[in-house]
Amino acid sequence: MIIKPRIWNNICMTAHPLGCAAQVRSQIDYVKTKERIDRSKKTVIIGASNGYGLAARIVSTFNCGSATIGVAYESAGKDKRTATAGWYNTESFITEAQKEGYPAWNVNGDAFSEAVKTQVVSLIKENLGHVDFFVYSIAAPRRIDPITGEIYSSVIKPIGEKFTAKTVDFLTGKVGSVTAEPATEKEIEQTIKVMGGEDWMLWIKRLLQENLIKDEFLTIAFSYIGPESTKAIYRDGTIGRAKLDLESKAKEINRLIASVNGRAIISVNKALVTRASAVIPAVPLYIALLYKVMKKKHLHEGCIQQMYRLYHDVLFTGKDPKMDSKGRIRMDDWEMRKDVQQTVSELMEIVETQNLDNIEALGDTKGMLEEYLRHHGFGMPGVDYSRDLAPNIF
Ligand code: NAI
Repeated sequence: MIIKPRIWNNICMTAHPLGCAAQVRSQIDYVKTKERIDRSKKTVIIGASNGYGLAARIVSTFNCGSATIGVAYESAGKDKRTATAGWYNTESFITEAQKEGYPAWNVNGDAFSEAVKTQVVSLIKENLGHVDFFVYSIAAPRRIDPITGEIYSSVIKPIGEKFTAKTVDFLTGKVGSVTAEPATEKEIEQTIKVMGGEDWMLWIKRLLQENLIKDEFLTIAFSYIGPESTKAIYRDGTIGRAKLDLESKAKEINRLIASVNGRAIISVNKALVTRASAVIPAVPLYIALLYKVMKKKHLHEGCIQQMYRLYHDVLFTGKDPKMDSKGRIRMDDWEMRKDVQQTVSELMEIVETQNLDNIEALGDTKGMLEEYLRHHGFGMPGVDYSRDLAPNIF
């Protein structure tokens, strides 16, 4: 099968195995050129196959020299259907880690379930003894409650009022308008159940019960705030409520792990095009403009640059990390710089609906599309995309 990108509504339905492998290697190459961080040797990453979680795993392994257990929920390739990008990424990651002698285990399954928690606990007991760093980086559409079996679905909707804003189809570069109806109370509650902090806390409770957390344990989860233009749909919307819950759970986890000198931290990360963010209404247009401005100011970072900076400049400096007034690390500091936000909002004003030339001149839809495609293994230098491949090659 000749594997090509098939994108529909900002969702890419295919992934390229060799391109994903090349993409993983390029992230590995990046962290290898960087100054070594000699901390965190036994790491568990939930959501390890894509975006921030994959980048964190790569920094942990190929820079810090950590053993890792990576949990993700991905689908293998079939005769006529490619695997998900995350599947190819985690398989490639393991191959690269093994080549260099770094211990690494993949768990593919639902991180919200008891079964996967038990599997990870067993792996830790058999191979690591304890965990010193736990990264929680899930972006999930649904969750099955491990006790009641109830299925919760997350939605990205405003609260109270309907939201209408400009957005972009980054495949065509076409600027259009998007409207989202306000969420019901049930939708708000369900989104909190999926994307809030309950499951993060359940993981930490389980590790604590099993005596797998030792002195100086650190755990981190990722949040987002963003600009005025996406506030109604993001921070003040259903997903923002879930992020507030996640942030408040960090405080509860801190109380839980105080006895072992542990620490739970929230890092507010930068907006980046990933499989998760590409489907949030209005966010792709904001990201297209943001990329243009940040690249011009030499401030642009992808997932791997953000994660390396997080580890190197903030988390593992030997000093207390700098926090905002709400106790969060702000890796969105460059994104939220006044000059950056000012220019982005000016551009947002003048980007016109249906004006293709305008968006190409003002925003970086091209760069964004390239980055999005690379997340699926397309457009990687040195990969022969005309090769006939079995989608289940690995
Ligand atoms: P992503 O879509 O690139 O990766 C999500 C990961 O979650 C994948 O590894 C996937 O396999 C895993 N996953 C999903 N459901 C799962 C389940 N039931 N069990 C096990 N694994 C599961 O997402 P991205 O963008 O890296 O987001 C990760 C975190 O970072 C999220 O909490 C997100 O809100 C946050 N964040 C993302 C930003 C962005 O612009 N992309 C900005 C700031 C924070």
